[in-house]
Amino acid sequence: MALANSVIWITGASSGIGEAISLAVSKLSNVKLVLSARRADELHRVAIATGLPASNVLILPMDVADLDSLPAHVETVRQRFGRIDYLFQNAGISQRSLVIDTNFSVYKQIMDVNFFGVVALTKAVLPLMLAQGSGHFVVTSSVAGKLATKQRSGYCASKHALHGFFDALRSEVYEAGLRVTIVCPGYIRTAISINALGPDGHTHGKMDENQEIGMAPEDFAQRLLRAVSKEKEEVYIGGSEIYGIYLKRFLPGLLSRILRNRKGV
Ligand SMILES: NC(=O)c1ccc[n+]([C@@H]2O[C@H](COP(=O)([O-])OP(=O)(O)OC[C@H]3O[C@@H](n4cnc5c(N)ncnc54)[C@H](OP(=O)(O)O)[C@@H]3O)[C@@H](O)[C@H]2O)c1
Repeated sequence: MALANSVIWITGASSGIGEAISLAVSKLSNVKLVLSARRADELHRVAIATGLPASNVLILPMDVADLDSLPAHVETVRQRFGRIDYLFQNAGISQRSLVIDTNFSVYKQIMDVNFFGVVALTKAVLPLMLAQGSGHFVVTSSVAGKLATKQRSGYCASKHALHGFFDALRSEVYEAGLRVTIVCPGYIRTAISINALGPDGHTHGKMDENQEIGMAPEDFAQRLLRAVSKEKEEVYIGGSEIYGIYLKRFLPGLLSRILRNRKGV
C-alpha cells in the first residue's frame, strides 16, 4: 500500500475514527506516526495499542483551535522525522442545537476546530510538502459537508467550507506532486454525538441512535486507506445515508422535503 514507508500525522487520534486510522496504518511496514489531539493520556493509550516501537511514534498533544501554536507543532514533527507524507486532519466537533437557540460562541468554536484549525495546520505544513515535492492531505468532512440537516447549522457550515478550501488547494498543488483526499463519513459508531456541542456550548452527552447503529470505525478506516492509496479526490463511506449526497445532486427538491419532515436528531 502507498502509505507504507511514510510519515503519517493524524489529528483527532485519541478516539473514534482517528484512533481507528492510527491502528490501521500502524499495521503497514515502516510507518512513522504522529498522534495528535488534546488528551495526552488517550494518545498514549492509542500509541501503546499500535504496538509500534516508541522510536516510530510521536505523541503530540495539541488544540487545533489554538491557531498560533500550530507552526511550532509542524516544526516539532519536522525535527523528529524530517518530513510529513500524509496529514490526516480528522479532529472535529459536532453540534446538536437549533439556530434560534445557539449562542454565537458555539459557531465560533465549531469553525475554529473544524475549519480554521484545518486551514492553519494546512498552511503550516504546506511549505514542507512543497519542498519535498510530495505529500497528501486527507481531510475528514462529513455527509453534512454535502447536505445540511436540522440542529447542525454550524457543523454543516464548517464541513461545507472544507470542500471549498480543499478543492481550490487541490488544483493549486497538483502539478507540485501534492494530493488531496476529502472523505465524507456517514454514521460511524464513535463518541461524536456525545461530544457534540449544545446551544450554550455544553456537550450533548448522548449517543444518538444513528451513531450507535453506524459503521464500525475499523471498517471505515480500512475503506479510507484504500481510497487514499488510490489517490481518490472525494470519497463517501457509510451506510444508506450516503445516498443523500446523490439526492442532493440530482433531486435536491426531494431531499429538501425529506429533511424538513425528518423528526429527531
Ligand atoms: N462519527 C460520525 O458519524 C462522523 C460522521 C461524519 C463526520 N465525522 C467526523 O469525523 C471526525 C472524527 O470524529 P469521530 O466520529 O471520531 O468523533 P470523536 O470520537 O468525538 O473524535 C473526535 C476527535 O477530535 C479530537 N478533537 C476535538 N476537538 C479538538 C481540538 N480542539 N483539538 C484537537 N483535537 C480535537 C478529539 O480529541 P480530544 O478530545 O482528545 O481533543 C477526538 O480525538 C470529525 O471531524 C467528525 O466531524 C464523524
